[in-house]
Amino acid sequence: MNASDISAARTAAVAATIDRIREIEREQGVTRPALQAIMDELLVLAEQEQLFPSAEFAPPPAGEKGNRRYLLQEDADNRFALYMNALNPGNETKPHDHTTWAVVVAVEGQELNRVYRRIDDGTAEGRASLVKDREIMVEKGRGIALMPEDIHSIHTTGNQPTRHLHMYGLALEVLDDRVGYNLEAGTVERYNKAFMVPSIRL
Ligand SMILES: [Fe+2]
Repeated sequence: MNASDISAARTAAVAATIDRIREIEREQGVTRPALQAIMDELLVLAEQEQLFPSAEFAPPPAGEKGNRRYLLQEDADNRFALYMNALNPGNETKPHDHTTWAVVVAVEGQELNRVYRRIDDGTAEGRASLVKDREIMVEKGRGIALMPEDIHSIHTTGNQPTRHLHMYGLALEVLDDRVGYNLEAGTVERYNKAFMVPSIRL
């Protein structure tokens, strides 16, 4: 396939997958079983590696921190946003929530996810205590699904860049009530919305 055929095939596969995902959410609402069904759809999409060539979905230049986030599709009302996230090894985020559901699956590369539980009662302004609940390695064939209130951090621990599909119930760049946690300091603060503008809109 040449580049424009790949692009057309990808657009069609993404649209068909998101049609099914919209239907799952409409029928089941936002529940853990519904997110599992959504993950199953995204795992099938991620298996079609030829649709997501590394040359087109490149990470930042080697040694550079941060990610490249490519917007693949988003509804006109900002719902059902699907991105390709490309990261070099050695990146991590602080623990954060999303305030919308999220599902991540891998086309290539490994991303360790740590999922946390908040154990304080939230009454001390700006303070928070988290404990680690579980770890999930997102890699080929294995994803993670997060409810709006779930808290996770990501750590790219492997030795190859990641190409991971990130799907959100609502586009990241319109979420304005997210929080991030500083584990060492035991603090909670707004999670920077300015980070969330996609690098590239396809
Ligand atoms: Fe996240």
